[in-house]
Amino acid sequence: MCCKVSIFKKNYMERKDFIEQVGLSSASILIFGCMQACSKSDTASSSNNSNKNATNKQVDFTINISASPYTNLNTAGGFFVDTVNSIIIARTLKNEFIAVSSLCTHQGVNVEFQSNANRFYCTAHGSAFDATGSVTIGPATAALKQYKTTLTGSNLRVYS
Ligand code: FES
Repeated sequence: MCCKVSIFKKNYMERKDFIEQVGLSSASILIFGCMQACSKSDTASSSNNSNKNATNKQVDFTINISASPYTNLNTAGGFFVDTVNSIIIARTLKNEFIAVSSLCTHQGVNVEFQSNANRFYCTAHGSAFDATGSVTIGPATAALKQYKTTLTGSNLRVYS
């Protein structure tokens, strides 16, 4: 009798341990899976936020307009698109430097500078922006972000 109780207790404990361990493992898998799903969601969300904030980031860089690839800026009416910072820098026919976000606010296509009209123009759907980045012709409805410029010798600083 004593041995039967002992065997029963042993079997009961093994089963209990097994259930506890399986239960814990299942819970761990569920929690881990949920954390991964939440993590993926957070990553996508922060990626979207970084895209939204791309034009809000602080900018401060200097280029030498006498050196390649910026030499178009040595000529009045020339322009350069900085694809790293998504900024278009132009030299107006009055020899003033202007810089705005290069991505059209309609659907994100790079704009170009049309010196004769002193405007930025998007060839995708025809939006136009004045020298300060304000919309003059749609379908774009939002302005291009404007940046400051300072020329010192042949060094042009572009900054927020
Ligand atoms: S993307 Fe520029 S007008 Fe549509």
